[in-house]
Amino acid sequence: MKAIVYEKYGSPDVLHLTEVEKPAPTDDEVLIKVHAVSVNGSDREALIGKPLYVRMGGLLKPSHQILGSDIAGRVESVGKNNLEFKPGDEVFGEIPGYHGGFAEYVCTRGRTMALKPASLTFEEAAAIPQAGVIALQGIRDKGQVQPGQKVLINGAGGSGGSFAIQLAKLHGAEVTGVDNMGKLDFMRSLGADHVIDYTREDFTKSGRQYDLILDLIAHRSVFAYQRALRPNGTYFFVGGSVAVIFQILFLGPWIKRTTAKNIRMLVVPQSRKDLISITELCEAGKIVPVIDRRYLLSEVPEALRYVGEGRAKGKVVITVEQNNKT
Ligand SMILES: NC(=O)c1ccc[n+]([C@@H]2O[C@H](COP(=O)([O-])OP(=O)(O)OC[C@H]3O[C@@H](n4cnc5c(N)ncnc54)[C@H](OP(=O)(O)O)[C@@H]3O)[C@@H](O)[C@H]2O)c1
Repeated sequence: MKAIVYEKYGSPDVLHLTEVEKPAPTDDEVLIKVHAVSVNGSDREALIGKPLYVRMGGLLKPSHQILGSDIAGRVESVGKNNLEFKPGDEVFGEIPGYHGGFAEYVCTRGRTMALKPASLTFEEAAAIPQAGVIALQGIRDKGQVQPGQKVLINGAGGSGGSFAIQLAKLHGAEVTGVDNMGKLDFMRSLGADHVIDYTREDFTKSGRQYDLILDLIAHRSVFAYQRALRPNGTYFFVGGSVAVIFQILFLGPWIKRTTAKNIRMLVVPQSRKDLISITELCEAGKIVPVIDRRYLLSEVPEALRYVGEGRAKGKVVITVEQNNKT
């Protein structure tokens, strides 16, 4: 089968289209013919090898040579112990371990896969899993956003942020989106009440405070985040630098004791239940998986270059199998 592989960390130039052996499902797995796969910030991080935590399992070179975690496709065959799916089922979801999707076929145990609703195209379905579930956990489940609360989403113009803005608005929050200047109108179009260009303004120095900060790209000190929180407010680290993780682990509990503000990591488990939950909102038209651009499998390097250049608004999707219903 064709796949986009990489053998060393680096720029999108290290990615190349090649023939690799088609995977065969174990007894517990399903083999899926990939129709669409979306690009997440986590793909770009695993490509360049930064932050350092993405090198767990592969310090000097990637442990898995095929990136791509959020797929939608059709079940081609099933292992004898996998009773959940059958050949021909249209499925979508996030592959555990975040790899293998930039290919014509992938095997997975299927626990994080769900049946694709007929009302969604393969591309729309592939756009949802990781980004949608991050938003669901950050805003609804762990964030427990209430009407009238002030919510700031840092990195709001990208994959997870585009879902988080919409979900926070759905829960009645007053939403501030932070991203680069080219994405300000985009964030407004998703419902953001206020937008901040991170290249011009540091939201932690404005004097404004928030009930919830969902940070998709954290790189400031925990004291800066604490300053931007209202009393009893919560800051969630979703992605960002290792230095911030250490600060949260060592200083977060002390900040909580002395100021009653929560500075925490948001660990987002891959969950079929959550995937179905956010997808139902998409089916109902309450949340839109916004697809900025579509590329072919051979164009994955261009897709990752586009994302890395700071231009992608919402999701970028790779169409792998072109005879799909879109
Ligand atoms: N916690 C968990 O369990 C979990 C699970 C899965 C994924 N993640 C992590 O979630 C993170 C976010 O993923 P994503 O897919 O939403 O990423 P994404 O699509 O790359 O979006 C990040 C956004 O942040 C913007 N940005 C860059 N620098 C910024 C800054 N200094 N201030 C504000 N915004 C800035 C980017 O814009 P530019 O275009 O300007 O760069 C981009 O729009 C990743 O780090 C991923 O590893 C966490």
